[in-house]
Amino acid sequence: MTSTDIAQSEGPSGYREAVELEFDEATKRYPGAESPAVDSLSVTVPAGEICVLVGPSGCGKTTAMRMVNRMIDITGGDIRVGGRSVRERDVDDLRREIGYVIQQVGLFPHRTIGDNIATVPRLLGWDKKRVAERVQELLDLISLPQEMGRRYPAQLSGGQRQRVGVARALAADPPLMLMDEPFGAIDPINRERLQNEFLRLQAEIRKTVVFVTHDIDEAIKMGDRIAILREGGHLEQYAPPAELLMSPASPFVEDFVGADRALKRLSLQRVSDVDLWQAPLVRAGDSVAEVRRALETADVKIPLLIDERGAPRGWLSERALAGDTVGEQLRSGPEPVVDRADVLRDALSDLLAHESQYGPVVDGSGRVVGVLSIELLSHMLKAEDSA
Ligand SMILES: Nc1ncnc2c1ncn2[C@@H]1O[C@H](COP(=O)(O)OP(=O)(O)OP(=O)(O)O)[C@@H](O)[C@H]1O
Ligand SMILES: [Mg+2]
Repeated sequence: MTSTDIAQSEGPSGYREAVELEFDEATKRYPGAESPAVDSLSVTVPAGEICVLVGPSGCGKTTAMRMVNRMIDITGGDIRVGGRSVRERDVDDLRREIGYVIQQVGLFPHRTIGDNIATVPRLLGWDKKRVAERVQELLDLISLPQEMGRRYPAQLSGGQRQRVGVARALAADPPLMLMDEPFGAIDPINRERLQNEFLRLQAEIRKTVVFVTHDIDEAIKMGDRIAILREGGHLEQYAPPAELLMSPASPFVEDFVGADRALKRLSLQRVSDVDLWQAPLVRAGDSVAEVRRALETADVKIPLLIDERGAPRGWLSERALAGDTVGEQLRSGPEPVVDRADVLRDALSDLLAHESQYGPVVDGSGRVVGVLSIELLSHMLKAEDSA
C-alpha cells in the first residue's frame, strides 16, 4: 500500500480508514543512559482501537509514543504504521498521518481557535473553502459554538482548550492519533466530561489511538486494551481492561490496578449484562390469588406495582393483598429505579444510597424488565474473584 492509497481509503463512516500500529521489540536507549527507557516493547494495536499506555512516572510512556512519529528515534527493533516501518518514512509525511495531542495542549496563543484548528490542513495546501468547512465541522464535533472559532486560546476555559487540542489533531483526519495525558491538567468533573466526549467521538470516527495516562481508572475507562509498563520500559501486561482486572499477570500489575479491582470490574459491566431477578409485576385490580401463585416461584418475594405503561410505582404492602383484588398500598416507593444501560458500579451506588436491597430495572421507555439486588451483585463479585 502506498501512502496515497492510505490517504484515499475511506471507512464506512466517511472518515479515513484507521491503520494498525505495531511496536516490534521497539527499544530506546538514550545516549549515556545505563538502561533503556523503552526495552523491547512489543504491542500490536488493531486498527480503530484505543490502546492505553499506563505506568508510573519515568517508565517510558512518552518515549514509546514519540518513537511512533519519530520525534524520538528508535535505537532497536521497529514500529510499523499500517504495515510500513516508520524508519523508512519521510518524517513530514509520517507526521501528517498522525494526530498528536500533548498535555499542555500547545495551542498557538496569537492565533484564533479557528486558525489553530486549521494548522495542518493549511500545511497540506487545502483550499480556503475546504479549510473553513473542516474547521466548522470540527467545532461541531467537539461541541463548541462556531463563534468560539474567532476567539483566542486565552479566552477559553482549560477544558475547552483541551477540546480544541483534540480538534486540531483530528483536522487532517489522520488514521492514527497519539494522545499524551490529554486530560491530565483538567479538574475531575471536566475530565470525565472530556473522556465521555472523546469516547462518543471515537465511536464515530474509529481512529487507532495511543493514549498515555498514569491514572489506572482513566486507562480502564478509555482503553480497548491496556499496556502496563514499569520502570525501564518493561511491558508487564497487555490486555483488555476486564482481563487485566480479572487476572493481573504479576504482583506489580496487581498492585498498580489496586485493591478495589473487584469494584472496578463493576464499572465495565452494564445492568443489561446481568441475568436479572424477577418480581411479580402487578397492576391495581389484578387477582390476588394469581399474584400469590406468582410469588411462589418469583426471585423477589414482594410484588411490584406498575402503572398502565409498565413503569414501576412501588413495592406493595401485605395490606394491598388483603382482598380479592390488588390494592394500591405500598410498603415503599420504587427507588432507586435502575436504567438497564447503567454501569453496575453506578447501580450499586444507587442501591447503597437508598439503603435498598432491590431496584426495579427499566428499559429505555421506562418499563420494568427485572430487578437488580444487592445479593445478585455480591454473588457476581464473589464468582469473579474465584475465577
Ligand atoms: N531526552 C532524554 N535524554 C535522556 N533521558 C531521557 C530523555 N527523555 C526521557 N528520558 C528518561 O527516559 C525515561 C522515560 O521517560 P519518559 O518521559 O518516557 O517517561 P514517562 O513514562 O512519560 O513519565 P511521566 O509519566 O513522568 O511523563 C526516564 O527515566 C527519563 O528520565
Ligand atoms: Mg510522559
